[in-house]
Amino acid sequence: MMLDAAERLTLDEMRALQLQRLAWTLRHAYDNVPHYKRAFDAAGVTPDDFRDLPDLARFPFTTKADLRDNYPFGMFAVPQDKVARIHASSGTTGKPTVVGYTHDDLETWSSLVARSIRASGGRPGMKVHVAYGYGLFTGGLGAHYGAEALGCTVIPVSGGMTERQVQLIEDFRPEIIMVTPSYLLALRDEFRRQGKDPRGTSLQIGILGAEPWTDAMRAEIEKSFGIHAVDIYGLSEVMGPGVANECVETKDGPHIWEDHFFPEIINPQTGEPVPDGEEGELVFTSLTKQAMPVIRYRTRDLTRLLPGTARPAFRRMARITGRSDDMIILRGVNVFPSQIEEQLLRVPDLSPHYQIVLTRDGALDCMAVEVEAEPGVTGADREAAARVLTHHVKEVVGVTVAVNVRDPGAVERSVGKAKRVVDRRPR
Ligand code: DLL
Repeated sequence: MMLDAAERLTLDEMRALQLQRLAWTLRHAYDNVPHYKRAFDAAGVTPDDFRDLPDLARFPFTTKADLRDNYPFGMFAVPQDKVARIHASSGTTGKPTVVGYTHDDLETWSSLVARSIRASGGRPGMKVHVAYGYGLFTGGLGAHYGAEALGCTVIPVSGGMTERQVQLIEDFRPEIIMVTPSYLLALRDEFRRQGKDPRGTSLQIGILGAEPWTDAMRAEIEKSFGIHAVDIYGLSEVMGPGVANECVETKDGPHIWEDHFFPEIINPQTGEPVPDGEEGELVFTSLTKQAMPVIRYRTRDLTRLLPGTARPAFRRMARITGRSDDMIILRGVNVFPSQIEEQLLRVPDLSPHYQIVLTRDGALDCMAVEVEAEPGVTGADREAAARVLTHHVKEVVGVTVAVNVRDPGAVERSVGKAKRVVDRRPR
């Protein structure tokens, strides 16, 4: 297998490369983005204060609010005619977050997605069904150009029209699918609805991400399709898909492509960096981005940094426990949807389609899990399954939940990122 030169660096060489690229990025941001000039000045630092990696902690964080305040193009470090592409992510409230790329940035992005597909087991000549959404979302086009760069045949399907997706998979016989894990499960159900065995497709590899998913979900997907399911991570503000990707031979968490992104984990309350191995909020500084460098961008994603395995020069990130925004505090206990997902997948009579609904009863918050029964499971068996799930959640997570077992198809499906939490509590 052909690795990129960066994938063969030693750890020392990687740190030296990062040092040099961080120095460039801090200077580039300070000189060309008024926001960074103001923020560095306010923190009393200049790019010259950066001499060694620990100095990075002296520089201010960047948050989504900073991007919003500089809407639409205020965070760009190059003139508009050097910006080759714009993407945006629609937040839950207000204006979208806008990001920009130069031609060089797009080339870097493609090469990193190509590297990610290769790490997932993809090879030139394979056919890639891209079911991430095309458009302002980075998923579709990011996957598309990466697959092209690797030398694959790209099938740009985008999300939606589930019946047709199934037909295209049958007729075009792709080896790889790039899609959110939740939508891949919707495709699985559609295969079954049409009386087809999802294990019988040409698919060998699923490159799945854009939303949190658990190892229990991986096992379920691998079993139902007979494929390798590999985790791809990324976010628009830092680039898009392909910031980190799992290696198929180890499946032990995404390797962060550290030749282009420098990761830190911080304590989300104090902002202090924590040592590798400890859980906290993931923070990224871009190392090569021209159009929109990001300095210490707070992702809100909670995880840990682990040593590299299949690619020793790149640290891995543990599976994302959740976003700090998604954390539910139920009567004093912190709960993430992924914890419910893990327990739900232990109950054979329940399907992996679920939503968590929060309501308020008097002064108390209540949590209900809306989940579907597997086809053919009815009546008393549904009630028993609900009791089992309530019991598992109580035992393992420590909270009491109501479980409503619905008919197959009754829980809202998304064609991209699943909406796991519905908050009906009065404000
Ligand atoms: O979701 C980029 C992407 C597209 C990644 C396709 C992978 C595949 P945003 O819409 O900006 O970008 O959302 C980024 O999604 O901060 C995480 O909270 C979440 N996320 C992305 N990948 C994963 C993953 C794209 N593998 C936000 N596991 C991030 C868990 C993920 N969460």
